[in-house]
Amino acid sequence: MKGKFIVLEGPDRCGKSTQAKLLLNTLLEHGKDVILTREPGGTETAEKIRQIVLEPNLDVRPMAELFLYEASRAQHTQEKILPALQAGKIVLCERYTMSTCAYQGYGRNIDLKTIATLNKIATLGLVPDLTLVFLMSDKYFTQRGEYLFSDRLEKEDLSFRQKMRQGYLELTKKTKNAYLIDADKNVDVIAQEVAELLHKCKIID
Ligand code: TMP
Repeated sequence: MKGKFIVLEGPDRCGKSTQAKLLLNTLLEHGKDVILTREPGGTETAEKIRQIVLEPNLDVRPMAELFLYEASRAQHTQEKILPALQAGKIVLCERYTMSTCAYQGYGRNIDLKTIATLNKIATLGLVPDLTLVFLMSDKYFTQRGEYLFSDRLEKEDLSFRQKMRQGYLELTKKTKNAYLIDADKNVDVIAQEVAELLHKCKIID
């Protein structure tokens, strides 16, 4: 693939959207051809799937939830991500396959092998060149007020969030080209760390 696929991951409210925008600006300043996108969503069809899967009071069973995320991913990957990569662009994506492993796998206890199979089908085998995993400390994570959580997944209880957070730790260790970033730090310090990582990975000079 000519382009580079960079994924930003982490629990809700870990600051990845802020960092995604800062990183977009850094890459543009370096003269890179870059797009910013997200999952679930990223295309018209996938954004409609996003509305269903995140609707606060809808009855969505775990297996249906998994397939909705994978449906969004299949559409998004084929319609937007792969063409951009083939055109040589850098694709910055908020969330991708690691989210499904952390939330539906660790959080909902769906077999990780089943998820890996579905991920492979939905992505057509595409894997990120770089995954940045933003994780706040456990203390800070559990202190976050319930009032902050508004969509269906964000409303899940503390035990779900703790399993999902542990999932991120384990997944980062076993994923090639994945880096853990301390999300408790100041926004600018994190942005600097991210820029250094991109430099180290030879994505920017
Ligand atoms: P966002 O608000 O960060 O865009 O993500 C939407 C929610 O969807 C968030 O709570 C994480 C969740 N999610 C999953 O549970 N599985 C997935 O595969 C993805 C991509 C997101």
